[in-house]
Amino acid sequence: MPKVVVLGAAGGIGQPLALLLKANPLVTELSLFDIVNTPGVAADLSHIATPAKVEGFLPPDDGLAKTLKGADIVVIPAGVPRKPGVSYDLFKINAGIVRDLATGIATNAPKAFVLVISNPVNSTVPIVAEVFKKHGVFDPKKLFGVTTLDVVRASTFVAEIAGDLGKAPSVVVPVVGGHSGVTIVPILSQSSLPLPSGFAKSDLEALTYRIQFGGDEVVKAKDGAGSATLSMAYAGAEFATKALKALGGEKGIIAPSYVNLDADKAGGDAVKKQIGKDLEYFSSNVEIGPEGVVKINPLGKLTEYEQSLIVAAVPELATNIEKVCTRGCRS
Ligand code: NAI
Repeated sequence: MPKVVVLGAAGGIGQPLALLLKANPLVTELSLFDIVNTPGVAADLSHIATPAKVEGFLPPDDGLAKTLKGADIVVIPAGVPRKPGVSYDLFKINAGIVRDLATGIATNAPKAFVLVISNPVNSTVPIVAEVFKKHGVFDPKKLFGVTTLDVVRASTFVAEIAGDLGKAPSVVVPVVGGHSGVTIVPILSQSSLPLPSGFAKSDLEALTYRIQFGGDEVVKAKDGAGSATLSMAYAGAEFATKALKALGGEKGIIAPSYVNLDADKAGGDAVKKQIGKDLEYFSSNVEIGPEGVVKINPLGKLTEYEQSLIVAAVPELATNIEKVCTRGCRS
C-alpha cells in the first residue's frame, strides 16, 4: 500500500510522470502499462534507490489486468497528443483508448481513484463514467479530470508578473470550468498573490488568454514534436501526491479537478446554481479524503469579467459533455 498505476507510461507524459512517482517516497508499488516499451521503462526506473517496487506490462498475457490488480490510484496519460499540421480526430482516437482502459479498470480495480489526463478531458472523464456505469461500479467521488496544469500555469504566470518566480510554488489561483480553451476560467481576482495595482484590463485579458491557451505556446515551440509533456508530468505527479495524502488520511487536501457534480450533491448544486446551468461535470476546488471527493467548493465571489468568462465556458462545456452523452449520461 499504496499502489499507483500509470496507463500510457511509455509516452511523453507517461515516462517523466513515472519517474516523479518513483521518486515519491509515499509510493510503495508502481505499475506501468503501455502498448510499447513498458518493460524497459520499468527496468530503468527500478534501479532508482526509492521504496517503490516497479513493474511494467504490455497487452499480451492479460498485461492490463496484471497492471491494475490491487491499484489504489490509476493515472491515465494514454492517447495521442495534438500536433500542428496533423489532422486526426483526437477525440475519436482517445475516446476509444480511454474506453478500453476504463473497461480494464472497471473490471480489475473498480475502487481505485482514477485520474484522467488524456485529452479532451472535458469528454474523456464522462466516457470513463459511462463505462463504469455500464459495469455497475461508478462512484463519482473517485473519478477526476486532471486540470492541475491550468492551475500550475496560472501560479507561474502570476509569479512572473510579480517579478518573483520564487513565489510560484505557493501562489494559489482557482481555475474552474473545464480543461480546454474558453472552458478554462481562471479566477484571478482570488489569486493568493494579488496582481499589481493598476493592472490594466487589457493585461488581465491577455493573462487570462495565456492561461486558457498556454498549451498552444508549447505545441508551437515543440514544432511538430507534440504537446506539453514535462509540465504535465509535474502537474500529474502533484495531483497524485495529493491523492496519496488523502488516501493516507490527511485532512483538508484541496485538489482542483474536473468532477461529476453528483460527487458532492450539496456542493455540486451550489455550483450549478452559480453557473446557471445543470451541467453534470465541472471543475472547481475539490476537497478530497480517503474515499475521494469530500466537498466541491463553490466558485466564490466573481468579478463581472469572470462572470462573462463563465457565460462563455458553459455552452462549450455542455457540448463537450453531450458529445459523449448522446443518449443521456444521467442514469
Ligand atoms: P504520447 O504519444 O507521447 O504518449 C501517449 C502514450 O500512450 C504512448 O506511449 C502510447 O503508446 C500510449 N498508448 C496509446 N494507446 C494506448 C493504449 N490503448 N493503452 C495504453 N497506452 C496506450 O502523448 P503524450 O504527449 O504523452 O500525451 C498523452 C495524452 O495526454 C494526450 O491525449 C494529450 O492530449 C494529453 N495531455 C493532457 C494534458 C492535460 O492537461 N490533461 C496536457 C498535455 C497533454
